[in-house]
Amino acid sequence: MSNNQTVGTIDKFDDYQGHQIDKLTLSNANNVSISVITLGSTLYELNVPDKEGGVRNLVLNFEHSQDYFENPFYICMGIGRVGGRIADGQLVVDGKQTQLPQNEGTTTLHGGPDGFNTQIWQGEIGKQDGNDVIIMHHLQKSEDDGLPGDMDATITYSLSDDNVVSMNFSAKSSEDTVFNPTQHTYFNLGKTSDIMSHQLKLNAIQALKLDDKKIPTKDRIDVEGTPYDFRKSKSLGDAINAMSNTKEKGFDDVFAVHPDAHNIIAELKDPDTNCSVAIESSRSGMILFTANSFTKDHMNFVRTNGVGHPHEGVAMEPMILPKPGQEKDFSEMTIKKDQSVSYAIKYHLSF
Ligand code: GAL
Repeated sequence: MSNNQTVGTIDKFDDYQGHQIDKLTLSNANNVSISVITLGSTLYELNVPDKEGGVRNLVLNFEHSQDYFENPFYICMGIGRVGGRIADGQLVVDGKQTQLPQNEGTTTLHGGPDGFNTQIWQGEIGKQDGNDVIIMHHLQKSEDDGLPGDMDATITYSLSDDNVVSMNFSAKSSEDTVFNPTQHTYFNLGKTSDIMSHQLKLNAIQALKLDDKKIPTKDRIDVEGTPYDFRKSKSLGDAINAMSNTKEKGFDDVFAVHPDAHNIIAELKDPDTNCSVAIESSRSGMILFTANSFTKDHMNFVRTNGVGHPHEGVAMEPMILPKPGQEKDFSEMTIKKDQSVSYAIKYHLSF
């Protein structure tokens, strides 16, 4: 067996509402490590070596479990069964309508009030091709989140010796249901408190036009000639500033993405540290959220010593592109009873 193996460990993180929360960590021979906590299957750290001989965490995190629920921003949490917004909480599976619990006015956002991110997952270290992997497992019951079918969900996290972090979301349900999970990772690849000097490239020629509840409409925005045009790598800060006259004052948008030959949909880079991440996904959509509404309070990030800043990180959430809200067409995210379905998201790191 080579010594280039990825090695996994489990430690106690803290206690949350009477339950022990564990932190599972994988480290490779390049001094790269990732950790995931069992609360919400949350990506806790993604550490890379820096030029000064230390390590730098490329994702936002908090010190305590409780902190993750002090604000509405799903910091690096596992999202499911369905990422994004379901208008009026009205889900249709096989022609049958189900009224889901709503958690953003009349909307069901990111799996609803009892989605994957609120659950305590069972975490263990497993093996894949001779390397340790993190396996998070949870039985998401219909009586808990209101969606059809009890869903056996597993998220497997691995770290390769060439610094690719893979997340594999798989599920099987006791009834026909919907599955469109994602990881709500906020990256900040630099050393500062915001991502304004990052560069972003997106393989997208259109974004969805959203209504005032951020529900997709039938209309699309052609990115050409607009701040939404990231077809060539450009300054994220300049693009955010170009959105300053919008209600959102930055991006909170759904892009229709076109995975390239290697299924890369997005590339984020910090020119200062030369650190970058390329995001791999074969699904058709991605939410880009530039953390416009982050505040100083209730966001006591480790990175900024207990305060939050607007644009402190950027979230890129791969998913199946939602249909316009009025169409109530969830066919592309429907999974059949007892069918196993899985989706991968990979982060290719350079530093
Ligand atoms: C995004 C969503 C935003 C905001 C954010 C964090 O996916 O589009 O509106 O809710 O998650 O909460």
